[in-house]
Amino acid sequence: MAKILVTGAAGFIGSHTTDLLLASGHRVVGVDNFRTGRRENLTAALSTPGFALHELDVALPGALSALAAAERPAAIIHLAALVSVQESLANPAENFALNVQATHLVAEAARLAGVGRVVFASSSAVYGDTNVRPIPETTETRPLSPYGAAKLASESLLLGHGASFGFTVRCHRYFNVYGPRQDPTSPYSGVISIFARRFAAGQPVTIHGDGGQTRDFIAVGDVARANLIAATRPDLRPGVANICTGRATSLLDLAQACARHFPGGPPPVHAPARSGDIRHSLGDPARAAAELGFTADTEVAAGLAELLGGVPAALVP
Ligand code: UD1
Repeated sequence: MAKILVTGAAGFIGSHTTDLLLASGHRVVGVDNFRTGRRENLTAALSTPGFALHELDVALPGALSALAAAERPAAIIHLAALVSVQESLANPAENFALNVQATHLVAEAARLAGVGRVVFASSSAVYGDTNVRPIPETTETRPLSPYGAAKLASESLLLGHGASFGFTVRCHRYFNVYGPRQDPTSPYSGVISIFARRFAAGQPVTIHGDGGQTRDFIAVGDVARANLIAATRPDLRPGVANICTGRATSLLDLAQACARHFPGGPPPVHAPARSGDIRHSLGDPARAAAELGFTADTEVAAGLAELLGGVPAALVP
């Protein structure tokens, strides 16, 4: 069993990754500065032997290096980030500090502490808007936001450091991740988190545009499993891979699937399409299957059932 350092451990993806690592018998050194992470997300982890939490800012030069040198983890899973595309547009300097400079500090921590593996949370935002469907990793990257650009730059920083100093880097381009603990409070939060909260409150959801736009929604449990594999599977080669399902779900289908869990709720409200909204985003999962042996196996209906409180929609009359 390995010791894994997880940055952003109190965040949405970080806390699920931490829980899965612990459940699989690994030790976890969790790091978070609680900028957007929440201590409640780690309630289970904090009562698990094998988990240690450090309140630390990855963007502070030297901080992570000192911790990694003391702990000597086998791998770092770097999930700490400024997570909002909108925030990166409003504050590009903060995006650069947290999503580029901090990545360099993670790469340095790995080098200085002799860490063998780094797993990085990249994003489908590196592709921008493309007509390619599904999107393989060979598709030209054209980020449309400081956030997407920072994720792409971070991939290169880590891969270059790993190749130079002898550690393996796996970059995960996550598509639209959803599940328990995702923050629903901004209009630009993930659509499933918003829909879940509004349906549960008996409030109508808003569909922007005609609802025919599609996304590749992947359950956070599957994403956590991809992180576990990338951090612990022996003999992986460095590289970049989409973490996606390869299945497209339209907004209309999503709203209908939610409605089946809350019969009698108000119908959706239609609103104009968002400017800059991408019509279709679908990942090609083949490379992750080939290189990591990873396949997402949670169907959206099952993932929604878990999120919305348990009753499988198929059983709702
Ligand atoms: C993602 C980013 C978003 C960014 C966009 C850039 C996340 C959670 N979102 O959006 O910040 O601007 O990439 O391309 O990382 N929708 C509704 N009703 C709602 C909320 C959303 O109809 O209440 C629609 C959106 O218009 C969109 C779809 O649902 O068509 C998915 O939205 P979202 O979850 O924000 O994901 P992305 O569009 O991929």
